[in-house]
Amino acid sequence: MAGLSPSCYCLLFLFLLGNAGAESLEKATPEQIHLSYPGEPGCMTVTWTTWVPAASEVQFGMQAGGTLALQAQGTSSLFVDGGILKRKLYMHRVTLRRLLPGAHYVYRCGSAQGWSRRFRFRMLQPGPNWSPRLAVFGDMGADNPQALPRLRRETQQGMYDVVLHVGDFAYNMDQDNARVGDTFMRLIEPVAASVPYMTCPGNHEERYNFSNYRARFSMPGDTEGLWYSWDLGPAHIISFSTEVYFFLHYGRHLIQKQFCWLERDLQKANENRASRPWIITMGHRPMYCSNADLDDCTRHESIVRKGLSGGRYGLEDLFYKYGVDLQLWAHEHSYERLWPIYDYQVYNGSRESPYTNPRGPIHIITGSAGCEEMLTPFAPFPRPWSALRVKEYGFTRLHILNGTHLHLQQVSDDQVSSREGGLGLGSGPVPWELGSPRP
Ligand SMILES: [Fe+2]
Repeated sequence: MAGLSPSCYCLLFLFLLGNAGAESLEKATPEQIHLSYPGEPGCMTVTWTTWVPAASEVQFGMQAGGTLALQAQGTSSLFVDGGILKRKLYMHRVTLRRLLPGAHYVYRCGSAQGWSRRFRFRMLQPGPNWSPRLAVFGDMGADNPQALPRLRRETQQGMYDVVLHVGDFAYNMDQDNARVGDTFMRLIEPVAASVPYMTCPGNHEERYNFSNYRARFSMPGDTEGLWYSWDLGPAHIISFSTEVYFFLHYGRHLIQKQFCWLERDLQKANENRASRPWIITMGHRPMYCSNADLDDCTRHESIVRKGLSGGRYGLEDLFYKYGVDLQLWAHEHSYERLWPIYDYQVYNGSRESPYTNPRGPIHIITGSAGCEEMLTPFAPFPRPWSALRVKEYGFTRLHILNGTHLHLQQVSDDQVSSREGGLGLGSGPVPWELGSPRP
């Protein structure tokens, strides 16, 4: 059998070297790029993943096709998934600073070892006097993400300033040695690389002590996204973990720790009411719902509402005491809007305008963005406190108009139309407004 000549060996060697170089470049090229607002005016954080160690740099500028004259450096950290393969992900975080309010920026991230493509975002305004537009939903998985095509389209059209994902991300981010998490983060990139993608943890993030959630997102504060708050226009937004009440093996002390933090944060938010009149919370598992399952919210004394046995650390009293206006929830794969409520009593503002000057918080449960678990049915008869129930895929648009009016709209992605209010379902939006924060 004829052997290879020395020159063939040489070529083969170079070919192998070339392949290794290309593979290394690919592994150092950023993927799963997403933005978050770190809670400091004029700042935006870019987070991404590589498969080998690499520098963390963002180049940015203000002209779409122009040079990216500005640059910022950040840090990377190794995340080892808890699965059997112990896969290694390098998570990069860079915070851009001194950005101009409302300005459009173009950026790319990476290093000399590999750059991302360019993305665009519009910087948030720091003050209270503007009208942020948000997309709000929970329970959107890597499989069957029904709301995603519309979200991608509308984000690219500039319809949103912020996305709130109220827990349960990929079903599950840890699965298949965290490859499902990678798939999900790639799927949302067209949305999340263009607007800040703000999160709270859900039960599906539980594995390995929420490690995939904590590693993949970069939220304000020092809790790795478990609980934090930030200001957006006329609103103060509080994100927290309902999961501390359910996965007690990660530490019962977390319930008290979060509760004390919540109370302090609510006190500060009330001192700042004149500037930011709305207080909005987001947490994954609701304290009320009328679904036909056995979830916590179907129990009269739900744990989120009343706390652990003995009534300690319940959130309903806390949120009522400090005048939370709007509570955003998910977990139930459906949409439900409640009348203003406290302790099962309806506290409408008036018969004609129930949501104007309401005397209790408003609850919205919006967990129908789509996932492999399909929609959740409702109990046959709505409760007196339930204003509207929709068993369709979709998400919620929240427009914080000013210090006295919020506008919410539920979008159905089953019927490719917009609906709210249970009124005649035309193809146009049906407005529903919440007037005046509670005094
Ligand atoms: Fe859930």
